Amino acid sequence: MPRLARRITSTSAKDFGMFARAHGRGGDLIHLELGRPVEDTPAHIKEATIAALRAGHVHYSDLQGLPALRSALARRLAERDGLDYGPDEIIVTNGLTQGAFAAAMALLEEGDEAILIGPHYPQHVGKVELAGARVVLAATDAAAGFRLRPELIAAHVTDRTRAVFLVNPCNPTGRVYGRDELEGLARLAVARDLVVISDEVYADIVYDGARHVAIAGLPGMRSRTIGLHAFTKAYAMDGWRLGYIAADRAFTGALLKVTTNEVTHVNTFIQHGALAAVTGPAAVLEGLVDGDRRRRDLVVARLNQMPGVRCPAPEGAIYAFPDIRATGLSARDAALRILEETGVVVEAGSFYGPAGEGHLRICFGAEPEHRLAEAMDRLQAFFNRL
Ligand SMILES: Cc1ncc(COP(=O)(O)O)c(C=O)c1O
Repeated sequence: MPRLARRITSTSAKDFGMFARAHGRGGDLIHLELGRPVEDTPAHIKEATIAALRAGHVHYSDLQGLPALRSALARRLAERDGLDYGPDEIIVTNGLTQGAFAAAMALLEEGDEAILIGPHYPQHVGKVELAGARVVLAATDAAAGFRLRPELIAAHVTDRTRAVFLVNPCNPTGRVYGRDELEGLARLAVARDLVVISDEVYADIVYDGARHVAIAGLPGMRSRTIGLHAFTKAYAMDGWRLGYIAADRAFTGALLKVTTNEVTHVNTFIQHGALAAVTGPAAVLEGLVDGDRRRRDLVVARLNQMPGVRCPAPEGAIYAFPDIRATGLSARDAALRILEETGVVVEAGSFYGPAGEGHLRICFGAEPEHRLAEAMDRLQAFFNRL
């Protein structure tokens, strides 16, 4: 067997959690473990893509992304988040995933440390490790509602720490971090010369008047934030693989070195679909988020009727993160038993690190309401039986 690169052999294998456990099983499984939008991509986005294909937009194009799309994205970030990026500070990527990889490769090297805030999004781990750096987990506390307290993160900063990965709104907890929480992190980043890699894939999916605050807009943060965004969740475009990075032009050249070596650029004609998404009617996006809100309300109300289960309403994203500690079951045992005994696939909170122990992550965005209701009936029977 030829020798493999150390960056590969020293990177942990990707863990697919309960999805892998459920794979290939027969029976009527209800999949609430994957964060996949249930809706179809809106028609005007598909039509714009088909039209671009028909018009012959099938060739190489701008390495950084179509200029018209980058301009529209810069305008959108200005309107939504009050940020002031130029089109030259936007890079269109293959989903948020490619942006996260580019950020890790551009910033981190052998011996560096990157902090992930726990419960953490597991797919960021591999990017840090492939860059040769080490993941350090900084846990937020369930008892304090997973509040982002700077001292929890500060305790893990060493002179090797280069970056903090922030996921806001948070997957898996559904927290939308408030301005005060983010200001605390921003002050720490400035004081300790850290870059915040800010995953904002759920920024458009917030409920009950919660407001998404982009950390890049806080004092001192424009020059030390790499903002990661995607069309994936809010526009129901997960299979399209479309996202973008917004970062100070001091980072752009380094990030492009990664993305252009990887894939040259993102598929030309789907970028026309992305342009239709950002410039299209706001009502379409609002309609999609309304659907998530309805599904959230259904799931949260039902979970709170189950013995031993307590579920605060998530402020954003598409996950309920119920606390099941009162049942005495570990998160993993509960998820495995739920799969075995009910055919409902949920993820164990511990899949998101030790900070998620005692919780389950239940995606309410991936199934229609009648299937969610069926899943809740099965879960109710399970918790009643315990
Ligand atoms: C927090 C977070 N970041 C990134 C992604 C992946 O985004 P994309 O499909 O755009 O690469 C997901 C998908 O579940 C996610 O939950």
